[in-house]
Amino acid sequence: MHFKRDWSWLVVVFLLFFTTPPPADAVIEDVLDIIHVVKEVTVGILKAWDIVQQSQFAQNIEFPLMREKQRKVLQRLKELGRQIDQTEQKYAQNVAVAVESVTEFMNQNVPLMTKMNDIHDTMNRISSRFQQMQKYEAHQHKLEESTLITFAEWTVSPNAYSVHHLMERLHLTLLGPEEKENTTTNMLSLLAQTYEESTDKICHTQQSAQQFVYSLYADIALTELKGYIMMEFSWMMLRIYGKGNYTEEVNLTRMDYEKRTGRTLKLLREVMRRADRIVWRCDPAKFIRGKNYDEVTRLLQGYIENEVDLNKEETCRETCDFYQSTRSEGCFKDLYCARQPRCSGKVYHCTFVDSDMWVCPAGRNSTRRYEYIEYENGRVLGQRSACVRGSTKVDSWWRYLLWHCSYCFCLCDEISIKSDRYFNLRETVADVENNRVVTGLRFVKSNRVFHLQIEEGQLLPRGGINRTSQRWKPVDNYQIFDRNVRNGRDYHTLSYESRSMDLDDIYTDDNSYVVVGVRFRVVGAHLNVEAKLAEYDFLEGKLISPEINSFWKSNDNTDVSGDRRQKVNLNNPDMSTRTIVKSIPDSRHNQYIDFVNTNMDKDAAQSTVPFIDTQEVVSNPPVPLSGLGIYHKGRQGYGGFLAPKIMTYDFTPHIRVPQNIN
Ligand SMILES: *[C@@H]1O[C@H](CO)[C@@H](O)[C@H](O)[C@H]1NC(C)=O
Ligand SMILES: *[C@@H]1O[C@H](CO)[C@@H](O)[C@H](O)[C@H]1NC(C)=O
Ligand SMILES: *[C@@H]1O[C@H](CO)[C@@H](O)[C@H](O)[C@H]1NC(C)=O
Ligand SMILES: *[C@@H]1O[C@H](CO)[C@@H](O)[C@H](O)[C@H]1NC(C)=O
Ligand SMILES: *[C@@H]1O[C@H](CO)[C@@H](O)[C@H](O)[C@H]1NC(C)=O
Repeated sequence: MHFKRDWSWLVVVFLLFFTTPPPADAVIEDVLDIIHVVKEVTVGILKAWDIVQQSQFAQNIEFPLMREKQRKVLQRLKELGRQIDQTEQKYAQNVAVAVESVTEFMNQNVPLMTKMNDIHDTMNRISSRFQQMQKYEAHQHKLEESTLITFAEWTVSPNAYSVHHLMERLHLTLLGPEEKENTTTNMLSLLAQTYEESTDKICHTQQSAQQFVYSLYADIALTELKGYIMMEFSWMMLRIYGKGNYTEEVNLTRMDYEKRTGRTLKLLREVMRRADRIVWRCDPAKFIRGKNYDEVTRLLQGYIENEVDLNKEETCRETCDFYQSTRSEGCFKDLYCARQPRCSGKVYHCTFVDSDMWVCPAGRNSTRRYEYIEYENGRVLGQRSACVRGSTKVDSWWRYLLWHCSYCFCLCDEISIKSDRYFNLRETVADVENNRVVTGLRFVKSNRVFHLQIEEGQLLPRGGINRTSQRWKPVDNYQIFDRNVRNGRDYHTLSYESRSMDLDDIYTDDNSYVVVGVRFRVVGAHLNVEAKLAEYDFLEGKLISPEINSFWKSNDNTDVSGDRRQKVNLNNPDMSTRTIVKSIPDSRHNQYIDFVNTNMDKDAAQSTVPFIDTQEVVSNPPVPLSGLGIYHKGRQGYGGFLAPKIMTYDFTPHIRVPQNIN
């Protein structure tokens, strides 16, 4: 059993992961199961050698015995093949997504693409030879002895088409020559880097860069495993049929594989450590209000009012600019003011544009007041279109030939049935009693209140999530007018004075904590997101007394000098949905943004931006989260969107690299 010694490092490494080895038939659910399968299979091979071991190199071994050994070996092969197939199937989707995105975002990078094609070509050759070998098992009774021997000889032969050579080539293309090893210029890190940089293309894959790297690795590792199995079994076959002893050859094969695996794991760990773990959503193909985005409505909205109605004295002695913070005080002589709903809240920032205008009112159940306003001097606020309800002529007038009673263009901050401006302040926590954690986030507007809804899923050992247990936890479906529901406690009401959203990434570097809840609180005039983190056991996949071992984490920074929150400014924003290019994230941790009205010229200041992206943010495959955040994405000249992002659990520390391999 001297072969086992060479594998001792691997066995030790894996024993660190796997306290209790699962039964052979257990459905493998954990994220690191590639490494798990490598272990199972390699140990399986060692066992298979027991069958061959007794047959020493001998010219006259009886035929039935050889047949019997061949049958047994092929049976083992079948079992190991089944294990690989099963894992491959499980990963097929993730791998497909990763590979597809490689092709998509790397088309411009010709050298990288050429290498990638080369790798795939090599992998396909290995896989098809492997399938061929699996077929031999099924037809073993009809096969000539020579067929198997030819296959075996071909597999291990030193020629350029053999599996032996293909394996070398795969490794070389992937990692580069060992002498010039460089952890930043190899394929995996280049792919990870390019993946992170192509933000506008990759955000639909729902894999963080770290998960992407792991998916690619899964594909490669399984192929390498196939190649390795083929070589081991070829030596076995050759030995069974008395072609030689091959002790040294097997030793060499094994050492090569061991060395390659060690090197790949070491690199994988390095690349995964550096890779981004953020998952966010890019804009949908088509914006549908209420389905993939929603809006805060009528927070500050363009509003036309005559000066005479902006002061209690009904005078016109000032100019529009004089009225920076006032109210609508009356309706002088039932002029235009009688033909539009009055602003019952405060009126801000009035300005004069031109005396006379045509006003096109918006539909009755629209949250806009006006579709557009066209002034006599030709200036148009908003987008001119066919005016369905018919436009109204509105003219300023002179009083005693001294005072001009102008129509001003102001902003109205009015709490009304049409103004959805509420954010839930109640906490949303996963069902920790049943070992569930947060796996995804999305904004929803329910009863006019914005909630940050969580997707929860049951933890499984080694970073897994039980897919069938995943569900969106229903939001706390209260109405703001319900008894026992209070402003400032259950929800926050945005207003001119309090309309900021902090943009933070809340996460933990401590790998023994995962996200179990989320909530907003109000700090000063800012909405501020908090994440609840709970301690958990990675190997067992269990929360450890979450009632005690959990805490809320947030970015408490309000105005510490030197590290002040910076504001994300929206310059002349149009409605977010009018952008034709996809929004990209443009905020950083420790910033904030104000809800503002859209630009006067572009939209007659009728909408409130940023809009709220309501697409679900989940990762595929699902994993526990080590953090979450609120960020802004947009394009210059548009209001953009507020959206949640998630940070996938960091698996790097669990990729252990054997100590004695370098
Ligand atoms: C790896 O390659 C990069 C880019 O060519 C270079 O800047 C870096 O110094 C190299 N690192 C090592 C360890 O050779
Ligand atoms: C064949 O291999 C065995 C170990 O399995 C070894 O003891 C023996 O010396 C080898 N024989 C030859 C002829 O190489
Ligand atoms: C395999 O080769 C290595 C290096 O030549 C040697 O140290 C080791 O003892 C060999 N193992 C066996 C089982 O022959
Ligand atoms: C106005 O609301 C009604 C009922 O809610 C709806 O059927 C109709 O389509 C809406 N009209 C517009 C223009 O949105
Ligand atoms: C996964 O979740 C489903 C539904 O909650 C449950 O029936 C099943 O037992 C869970 N599987 C495991 C492995 O815990």
